[in-house]
Amino acid sequence: MKPKVYLTRLLPPTVMERLAREADLVWNDADRVATRAEIIAGARGCDALLCNITDCVDAGLLAACPGLKVVANFGVGFNNIEVAAATARKIPVTNTPGVLTAATADMAFALLLAAARRVSEGDRLVRSRRWDGWHPMQMLGADVSGATLGLIGFGRIARALAQRAQAFDMRVIYWNRSPVSAAEAAGATGASFADVLRQSDFLSVHVAYTPETHHLLGDAQFALMKPTALVINTARGPIIDEKALVRALQTRRIAGAGLDVFEREPQLEPELFGLENVVLAPHLGSATIGTRTKMGMIAVDNLLAVCAGRRPPNCVNPEVLPPV
Ligand code: DGY
Repeated sequence: MKPKVYLTRLLPPTVMERLAREADLVWNDADRVATRAEIIAGARGCDALLCNITDCVDAGLLAACPGLKVVANFGVGFNNIEVAAATARKIPVTNTPGVLTAATADMAFALLLAAARRVSEGDRLVRSRRWDGWHPMQMLGADVSGATLGLIGFGRIARALAQRAQAFDMRVIYWNRSPVSAAEAAGATGASFADVLRQSDFLSVHVAYTPETHHLLGDAQFALMKPTALVINTARGPIIDEKALVRALQTRRIAGAGLDVFEREPQLEPELFGLENVVLAPHLGSATIGTRTKMGMIAVDNLLAVCAGRRPPNCVNPEVLPPV
């Protein structure tokens, strides 16, 4: 018997083909986020829910779909899922770590370069047809080579970003909750949270979003930073107090930002649209066809394993699994 799977949104073709082969598949084929009612109607009676980071899977939704054996998230972050509620129902929750590390680190470095060298602003100038040619003092940006990159959190993506930065002759410092071995640090230097804020020319956020990291960066933290510093966020929007960031950018308390994630996606603080010193991207960190395909395959591996009574490769609440 193939497991019955509800998928909340279309995934890359090879993932869809595999799901069609290996599962009894129902999916939301509308090109938009499925509503809560649609997810409940689709997932009720299914063995597996294959959901996205834009789907809120909470206690109420799980209670409305009592047959679910697994919730497989298409994404490494899983703050969209009430894991405690799944754990209480003994439902494994899975995610897709590892395969999006390089793509997300690339995106963080792309935003860093774009913000430093004012790429979006320059693109807007050229498109406006108001560019009057090269001149010596036009759109002078920040030097990347020789600058200090500060990392808030030092997990897989932060370490991949550190490698990229080191190839650009940057000095890398990091703050991490748990100790980091010299091998993992690979030339980056650990520092206190406040020292990372004070010393960074570029500050990039790489912690998971939890109640503890909500608004980790706000007015008080921006006040510690250099007025020339730029903030990069490819993690989760609510780690930064977006209103405080707008204030810091408007008053030039900091020099700029490169943002791939926002506090209330797809809504943004309206002032961000008018600020020249911020580069805005629509949550593209893992958005390459190769990466999204690998994420889909991992999500499918996870759900098929649970449905076949095996341990899923990536379970975020392993306490619900039978002991090995
Ligand atoms: C994730 O996997 O958490 C990413 O934000 C999706 O791109």
